[in-house]
Amino acid sequence: MKREVVIFGAGKTADHARFYLDHDSPYEVRGFTVDRAFLDRETHAGLPVVAFEDIERTFPPSRCEMLVAISYVRVNAARAEKYAQAKAKGYALATYVSSRATTWPGLLIGDNCVIHEGCIIQPFAEIGSNVTIGSGAVIGHHTIIKDHCFISGGATVSGNVTVESYCFIGAGATIRDKITIARGCVIGAGALVMEDTREKGVYKGQAAMPLPRSSDELRAI
Ligand SMILES: CC(C)(COP(=O)(O)OP(=O)(O)OC[C@H]1O[C@@H](n2cnc3c(N)ncnc32)[C@H](O)[C@@H]1OP(=O)(O)O)[C@@H](O)C(=O)NCCC(=O)NCCS
Repeated sequence: MKREVVIFGAGKTADHARFYLDHDSPYEVRGFTVDRAFLDRETHAGLPVVAFEDIERTFPPSRCEMLVAISYVRVNAARAEKYAQAKAKGYALATYVSSRATTWPGLLIGDNCVIHEGCIIQPFAEIGSNVTIGSGAVIGHHTIIKDHCFISGGATVSGNVTVESYCFIGAGATIRDKITIARGCVIGAGALVMEDTREKGVYKGQAAMPLPRSSDELRAI
């Protein structure tokens, strides 16, 4: 018997989450919910869309769990707000860990997390609540990712790191071992972070530079 779940959101992040839940989880997605102000259709992808304000009437928390599937807007604050509101309404929040991710026994992970395919979460790592980790990201041993973080695909968070709450780590970024990423930081795609960061800091790496020639002029490719 599958567990029933309703998804908060009806955009691409919600569609992405629904795909995973449909194909690789013990959950059956029963519908979507959005704030009434954003309710512009009755169905989405073949399922009902219900105003969040009235969600308990259609999908009561006694029967249905919820997954808040919105991205990292306002450095994850938007997702955190809906996470808190869903909990206040009495919903249990679903966590999805891809069957194609590598995890180990004893993993501590909170609710409303989405762990995509190809992630490696090493032993003794801890993941808080309301955390998304994109495909292929590596979370090293004894590293702690606190609540409301978004770790993009391909990022490497080395061992013994603490990522405080409300951080965003961009695609392919690398965080060296034994440092702390302070609360509310944004680490840009491809950045290499070698020391502790400051709260709400924004860090960027070195962007690729165009060579003054076209690909027609290359000898080896
Ligand atoms: C770092 C980042 C957050 C900055 O965002 P922003 O404030 O909108 O900054 P802008 O795009 O205006 O760029 C500001 C400057 O930094 C540079 N820059 C931006 N991101 C960069 C990056 N990742 N690496 C190197 N340089 C970068 C820009 O070229 C620009 O340089 P300029 O001032 O010389 O023109 C953003 O560019 C980024 O990397 N986001 C992460 C994207 C990502 O990983 N998405 C995955 C989602 S799943």
